[in-house]
Amino acid sequence: MSQRLRHLTTLAGLPTEAITRLLDRAETMREACAHGTRKLNLLAGRTVLNLFFEPSTRTRTSFELAARRLGADVINFDIGLSSTAKGEELFDTLHTLEAMHLDAIIVRHKESGTPESLVKHAMSGVAVINAGDGNRAHPTQGLLDALTIRQHRPDFDQLTVTICGDVLHSRVARSDVHALQALGTKTIRLCGPAALLPGAEELPGVEISHDFDAAIEGAGAVIMLRLQKERMAATELPDEASYFARYGLDKRRLARADKGCLVMHPGPINRGIEIAPDVADGAQSRILEQVGNGVFVRMAVLAEVLGR
Ligand code: NCD
Repeated sequence: MSQRLRHLTTLAGLPTEAITRLLDRAETMREACAHGTRKLNLLAGRTVLNLFFEPSTRTRTSFELAARRLGADVINFDIGLSSTAKGEELFDTLHTLEAMHLDAIIVRHKESGTPESLVKHAMSGVAVINAGDGNRAHPTQGLLDALTIRQHRPDFDQLTVTICGDVLHSRVARSDVHALQALGTKTIRLCGPAALLPGAEELPGVEISHDFDAAIEGAGAVIMLRLQKERMAATELPDEASYFARYGLDKRRLARADKGCLVMHPGPINRGIEIAPDVADGAQSRILEQVGNGVFVRMAVLAEVLGR
């Protein structure tokens, strides 16, 4: 059995067994909650800090809910983008907050690698969980996407997953690829305009495509991504109407995928830019299931890193 994780900063390099253990544990949390258990006092007396240097709706709320459902106390420390403190200031913030006796820090930051820096500087015994760093990793999103797919299509080795949109700036896409590969997915297609795709060498084993009609053919799950304008220079911004015509998910395109193809999106969605409203709200949409699974995955991760 692989060792209990002390921190969760990325899914890259995690043993398949650790990923499967977290997904199984998330299912246990889901079952417990389905049977009316709203509070599992697993983490009673522990304190969790939400340290978000970038905006967030679902991730922050869902970590907070997850921690509270496990009986932990939660402190929210929100810092708008404009007041992001870096370098020493970040560590000063860390040490100030740590002096209040925290057990876990959940961090979101625009700089890739911030969670690892916190692991290095945090007091021993404080667990660090990455809630998204730059374009690098968003491990709990990767896990909740894998869980959502597994609930419908556990046959990962037979599955084609197409990830379409602004892959270049997407930490979600990277963590999805790491989770899906660990679970045995053979065909992962990354699709988008050339300017919004990473180089093939960055994610070995994936197919790169600029043609969404071809890339969605036979897909069992399609994960749409938002144009992350906040990470782009103004000159990089594509024209939204022509972007939707080439890379938007509408009914006509979805019909090219496998029957019952899961339609996924990490949110926030931009209707009419990367996804048509009738597809986002349609029968194949799993977007709200993803949100629901996010709470169970985060409960599983908190229980893992704070387990005694
Ligand atoms: C994503 C993120 O912040 O990386 N959102 C999320 O956590 N659900 C994706 C995005 O912002 O587009």
